[in-house]
Amino acid sequence: MSFSVDAVRAQFPILATSVHGKPLVYLDNGATTQKPQCVIDALNTYYSSQNSNVHRGAHYLSDVATAEFEGARQVVADFLNASREEILWTRGTTESINIVAQCYAREQLQTGDEILITAMEHHSNIVPWQLACERSGATLKVVPVHDDGSLDMEAYDALLSERTRIVAVVQVSNSLGTINPIAEIIAKAKAIGAVTLIDGAQAISHFPVDVQALDCDFYAFSGHKVFGPTGIGALYGKRALLEAMPPYQGGGEMIERVTFAASTWNELPYKFEAGTPNIGGAIGLGTAIRWLDNQDRVALEQHEASLLDYATERAGEIGGLRLIGTAPNKVAVLSFLLEGGHPNDVGQLLDQQGVAVRTGHHCTMPLMDRLGIPGTVRASLSVYNDKSDIDTLFNALNKVKTFL
Ligand code: ALA
Repeated sequence: MSFSVDAVRAQFPILATSVHGKPLVYLDNGATTQKPQCVIDALNTYYSSQNSNVHRGAHYLSDVATAEFEGARQVVADFLNASREEILWTRGTTESINIVAQCYAREQLQTGDEILITAMEHHSNIVPWQLACERSGATLKVVPVHDDGSLDMEAYDALLSERTRIVAVVQVSNSLGTINPIAEIIAKAKAIGAVTLIDGAQAISHFPVDVQALDCDFYAFSGHKVFGPTGIGALYGKRALLEAMPPYQGGGEMIERVTFAASTWNELPYKFEAGTPNIGGAIGLGTAIRWLDNQDRVALEQHEASLLDYATERAGEIGGLRLIGTAPNKVAVLSFLLEGGHPNDVGQLLDQQGVAVRTGHHCTMPLMDRLGIPGTVRASLSVYNDKSDIDTLFNALNKVKTFL
């Protein structure tokens, strides 16, 4: 397979648009990725000619929608190297983690048990565990990070103990881009009998994930961060764990039989899917993953790595720019502070020049506290970004400096 960034860019219509009269330079992929035309078309096709409810109808359209919806689940299962019964549709990573925190942690844990997370977690991999701890009596423990934003693995080893019941770790930091050594983290957790959950929200679009090779118990990700629609995501869980967990929500579809005396539950994965699901979203996500799978993944990774190298080099040429997060193993995320400029002001001045970045704490307040900063300006790159996007960012930053 060959790779041409121009050919990839051409498939994302939004990249040809302008904001504030300037060509859009979209560097906020950590927040959400843009959608290729095939995903937009799949949503259009679904709502124009396939829309119907799934698993219920005695008619043609319902059969079509069901086949598309379940086909998309199989695409996700194949993508992660899982079985389709182990893939639950959710609203996204946040809901995926909440399902495990509520249905596994809250039920299984008790006083004296510990849940281990890291200091670089997104709030969505902190707060659900705090709630689970409050209700179960378990304690939350936090693996610290080094100044460069890498995980302190010696501290991880020291914190792991026979009390550790769950290890919940982000694969890639949304704020800094740090790639955590999750294979080692999982292997060590398994060795002491802990259950593992990986927050893959920021990893899923950057490199292939094989849940069986990793041997994680749960893996969570969001569709909209992997070129799919918002409002849809998935939770992978090992079958035995999902079988043992109580349902998440009650309603239609998740039941086998209902009487006023009691109800029994549907088989996996439906036990966790109460109510009409996000059918169009699931079909769009399946299309997005098929699109990504058809790309040369090695070439995409190399492209992103070369963009990170180039951006890091250019950042070094800007006086007063301080990079936040310089771990040796990173995806193409450049978090930084500009001397004399509040991140929000820098972000607004970049926006005026057509450059979209995220500013602030990035839903990682404890990480910002650890680093002693209020927030950062974050440029997060994806497969369709190119060197000229980075040049535009740094030319714009040079202009921003003249305003500060
Ligand atoms: N978690 C997303 C981000 O990092 C929204 O921007």
